[in-house]
Amino acid sequence: MTAPVQIDVRTETHAYPVHVGAGLVDQLGTLVSAAGSTGRRFVISSPPIWKLHGAAVERALDGAEAIMMPDGEQAKTLHTVARLYDALIRAGGDRGATVIGVGGGVVGDVAGFAAATFLRGVRLVHVPSTLLAQVDSAVGGKVGVNHELGKNLIGAFHQPIAVVADPLLLATLPRREFRSGLYEVVKYGVIASRELFERVERDLAAIFDRKPAVLVPVIAESCRIKADVVAQDERESGLRRTLNFGHTVGHAIEAVSRYQRYAHGEAVAYGMLAAAQLAAARGLFPGSDRAALAELIAKLGPLPSVSDLSAAAVCKAIRRDKKVLDGRLHMILPVRLGATVTVNDVAEDEIRSALRSIGIRGK
Ligand SMILES: NC(=O)c1ccc[n+]([C@@H]2O[C@H](COP(=O)([O-])OP(=O)(O)OC[C@H]3O[C@@H](n4cnc5c(N)ncnc54)[C@H](O)[C@@H]3O)[C@@H](O)[C@H]2O)c1
Ligand SMILES: [Zn+2]
Repeated sequence: MTAPVQIDVRTETHAYPVHVGAGLVDQLGTLVSAAGSTGRRFVISSPPIWKLHGAAVERALDGAEAIMMPDGEQAKTLHTVARLYDALIRAGGDRGATVIGVGGGVVGDVAGFAAATFLRGVRLVHVPSTLLAQVDSAVGGKVGVNHELGKNLIGAFHQPIAVVADPLLLATLPRREFRSGLYEVVKYGVIASRELFERVERDLAAIFDRKPAVLVPVIAESCRIKADVVAQDERESGLRRTLNFGHTVGHAIEAVSRYQRYAHGEAVAYGMLAAAQLAAARGLFPGSDRAALAELIAKLGPLPSVSDLSAAAVCKAIRRDKKVLDGRLHMILPVRLGATVTVNDVAEDEIRSALRSIGIRGK
């Protein structure tokens, strides 16, 4: 069995461990206590996840109280948060309580927002159960919910006291969800680590088999990259934007398809390809690196087609997105595998040609 890895996240105000290891869920009680949780423990999860992994969590957290919330992105609302407050208040939760979110990014964001606001903030532990949550949403302290008028519009920064990422939880994850998280791993490789990128290339078969021995270093390295960025820029003033590589076009593709057709990671995959084309056209990104990225994305599996999307609609969605500051489009472009540059002068023509390169030709 591979030894667990601990990554220490340090922000200006907080420090906490991210534990990555196969079977760590069985040690949850010890890990949560070691992180400083002394009072009552409330586990927040959703029924499908709880059905698969609740028994193990309950065994490890003797005496924790489980609260269920509905599953899925549509449950990421203030209404769900209000129901969680109801349950916490009825159960007599106090300032000393610890909220433990067991689930994907949705459960983590919602449970985290409840923890950030209940009694002006109680302790939070993330137990991410999707690859996306293990490499991305559980680290960094962003919590929140959607508004009818847009995603993630309501939120807070609330760092957990610990994150426990157990790759054995991923054994039950549907393949498409698993792949969706893997595109974020590729993103980390492109923005910060050629080594991670090459590790994914090399170990892809074992990664798809969800072998803990290969998943632990991949997840740990991804968390380390995110933790590094967050440590330097907790509240997203600048550097943290590099994590948005692939997300300018990615978010726009999700928005124009009303979040129906593409998994988040799939849209980000298109976004990375578009950014790579744009960077290459500017002479910033070597052709060999661009080819390696395209090849790896192709190896991760087929992406749902974008050929019927309207380029005009995608451009409009990009302009509406928050990455346009003072009317100028900011974009993270790769300069080689492992390094990026932020540019703030992207012209619409360049976007159009990048969109054409990924197959978005429609008016
Ligand atoms: N806070 C952040 O920094 C941050 C970063 C990235 C994404 N997010 C948010 O994360 C959310 C997406 O997260 P997600 O992709 O994990 O989606 P999700 O939480 O909706 O989970 C996807 C599906 O997988 C199921 N599932 C979860 N764990 C499972 C397991 N172990 N086995 C089988 N099924 C399992 C869930 O029930 C759900 O149906 C979005 O709302 C996004 O905004 C937040
Ligand atoms: Zn993302």
